[in-house]
Parts: sequence; structure tokens; C-alpha cells
Amino acid sequence: MSYSPGLKDVVAAETRLSHVDGEAGILVIGGYPLEEIAERATYEEMVYLLWHGRLPTEAALEGFAGELAASRPLPGVTHDLLRGAAKERRPVIDVVRMAAASLPSIDDTADARSLVAGLPTIVAAYWRLLHGKEPVAPDASLGHAANLLYMLDGENPGGDRVRALTTYLNTVIDHGMNASTFTARVIVSTRSDFVSAVSGAISALKGPLHGGAPGPVISMLEAIGDADNAESYLRERLESGERLMGFGHAVYRVRDPRADVLSRAARAFFDHEDDDREDDLYDLYDLAVHVEKTALELLEEYKPGRRLQTNVEFYTALLLKGLGLHPDLFTPMFAVGRVAGWTAHCIEQRAVDRIFRPESLYSGEMARQWTPRDER
Ligand code: ACO
Repeated sequence: MSYSPGLKDVVAAETRLSHVDGEAGILVIGGYPLEEIAERATYEEMVYLLWHGRLPTEAALEGFAGELAASRPLPGVTHDLLRGAAKERRPVIDVVRMAAASLPSIDDTADARSLVAGLPTIVAAYWRLLHGKEPVAPDASLGHAANLLYMLDGENPGGDRVRALTTYLNTVIDHGMNASTFTARVIVSTRSDFVSAVSGAISALKGPLHGGAPGPVISMLEAIGDADNAESYLRERLESGERLMGFGHAVYRVRDPRADVLSRAARAFFDHEDDDREDDLYDLYDLAVHVEKTALELLEEYKPGRRLQTNVEFYTALLLKGLGLHPDLFTPMFAVGRVAGWTAHCIEQRAVDRIFRPESLYSGEMARQWTPRDER
């Protein structure tokens, strides 16, 4: 037996859901290269693809989207929990975890549906309660992403915002055997239910080494403030041994393909908002492009040969900020996108029906002798 810290290079499952090639910078989702599908599909189509292994026909999609939309309302106990948590001003991602765990477990199909459909309702309802507003009931006539924006703002969103959010959700929907997905699979492997698995997955996602917010990217851009400050700010960070947020990846050694898709989405989104253009957002986009270029040059200078490239978090931050979302919503939004991947992995794991039970390497003593309490 060999010990691999972090299970590095250990293959823990077989999947047809997604494939990550870190050397080539390729991400395949359900057989489709990310850039082929993320900017075209609706989120419902992506969920169907992951759950059923193929894209739906028009008729199948209509029925499927209707079933998902019908699963958006939350049970009373979840509403009560959200109100109680808002009074205590608990962090959004903690409440998403608690509220997801409060959804009823019925059977795998119903659970997968209520998790994917219910998470956006949880996030939007809690965000409004936190800001002294009543939740907005889901609108079954709106698609998944449009309804989420509607539940957050109480207004029908424009097509560009819907497309931008959909592209984001599609882009983060699944990503190989990442920590939260593995967590979900381990829980299902004990024959536990999908609600428990997704609650565990959210707990894993919350950690700063995983879904821990592209919030710091926005903080970095705000601290730089002006393109002229970028080089000196970034040099200072690197010289004091800090890591630049939004760069580097555990698997990708070339540019994260998700960064390309999201940077295109951010650009298209910003370009299409001419009518109610907010200059500070345009400035932020231009600043981000400049910061990215400068950071890549400096990373090559300070960390030659480490092959550090832009990761998904960099343009996630920009896109979500452009959508008007507060950084406290960034990790919850990641969960809203990734929940379809988690549930699809739960479905796969259910079929495998084999409990995860790795070995551990004992490094303690072997033959200690009992000492009575008053002699220790
Ligand atoms: N800025 C500066 N230096 C970096 C960065 C960075 N962003 N990332 C890695 N390095 C350096 C390391 O300090 C190390 O230097 P050394 O060889 O002199 O010791 C070298 O590059 C290799 O780094 P590793 O730690 O081996 O990189 P690893 O692949 O394990 O880490 C990680 C990946 C955690 C993402 C890292 O790149 C990082 O901390 N990035 C910044 C935070 C970030 O953007 N996180 C989001 C990742 S995407 C996601 O999780 C969805």
C-alpha cells in the first residue's frame, strides 16, 4: 500500500460527467468541450445532460424544465430557518448549508430535483431577508437563471444578464473529482441520501482552498484601483511571499479553460449594457484585463517555470460583480451552479454502491499501558 497525501494521483471513481486535462487546458462536460456548450446551453439543458447522459429534445426539455420549476418553492421549515438565521445575520454560505440540509429527503429523483431547484430559492430568499426585504416567490414561467435574478431583485432581468449568469452556472457545473464532489460521493457511498450528500458538499466547498470566494480577487482589483498602480502593487505582494488571487491551479498547468469562457461572457455582458452603462464597471473590466496581463508577466518573473496561469476565480469575480452580485454571494453562486454536478455524481455513486473505505497509516505508539488517573 502506498500513501498519497491529499489522494494526489489516486483515481477514486469512474465518471462520464466531466474530464479535466490540466496539461492541455481542456474541460469536457458530458462529452462536450466546455467552450462548445457553456455559452449556448440553458442551465436546465446542462442538468439534463449530466443526469441523463444526453441533451434533451425540445419536448423532453419542456417537461424537465417544468418539473424543476415546480420544485423551486421551499418547505415551511426552511423558510423559518432562513428567517431565524437572518435575525442572527449568519454568513450566507453557512445558511445555504443549513437550509439545504433542511430540505426533506424523499427519494433520489425528488431529492436531486429539489436540491438543484431549491438552492437558488434559498440563496435569493436569504439575501433579501438579510437586507430587510421579504423573499420573492419563484416564477415558474422563468428559466432557472432568470428566476434566480428575479428572486434576488424582484424584477424581470434583461436577456444579457440571464445569458451571463447561465454561462457562469454552466461553466462551474462540474469539474472532475474535486473536494466537494468527492465529499458528496463518499456520503452517498454509505447509502445515505442526496440531501445529506449535498449538505456535506457545501461544507467542503466553503473552504478557502476550494470554493472560497473569488471575493479576494475583487478586493485586489479595488485595492489596485488604477492601472498605473498594478505593477507596484503586484510586485509588493509577490516580494512579501503572498499569492496572487485568481492565478495558479492544482490541476491546470496552462490557462484554465473556464477563465476563457468567463472572460468572454464578462466582455459580452459589459459590452451589451450600453444603455445603463455604469462607468465604474467598465473601468473595472479594463483594469482587470491590465492586471491579468501584468500578473502573468510578474508570475513568470518571480516564479519561473511554475506555469502559473489565470484560473476560473479571476473572471468569475468580474462576471458576478458585473451582474451586480455582492462578493458574499460568490461562493453561494458557485454552489448553485455546482449542485447539478454533485447530484449527478450522487446518481453515479448510487449505481456503484460501494462504500469508500481507504486505509490509514498508523503513526502512533503500539503498546502503551494504562496509568490510573491520579498517577498521570
Ligand atoms: N501567486 C503567487 N505564487 C503562486 C501562486 C499565486 N497565485 N500559486 C502558486 N504559486 C507558487 C507557490 O508559492 C509555489 O512557489 P514555490 O515553488 O516557490 O514554493 C509554486 O507557485 C507552486 O505552487 P503550488 O502550491 O505547488 O501550487 P498548487 O498547484 O498546489 O496550488 C493553488 C494551487 C492553491 C490554487 C495556488 O495556485 C493558489 O493559492 N492560488 C491563489 C488562490 C486562488 O486563486 N485560488 C483559486 C483556485 S481555482 C479554484 O479552486 C476553483
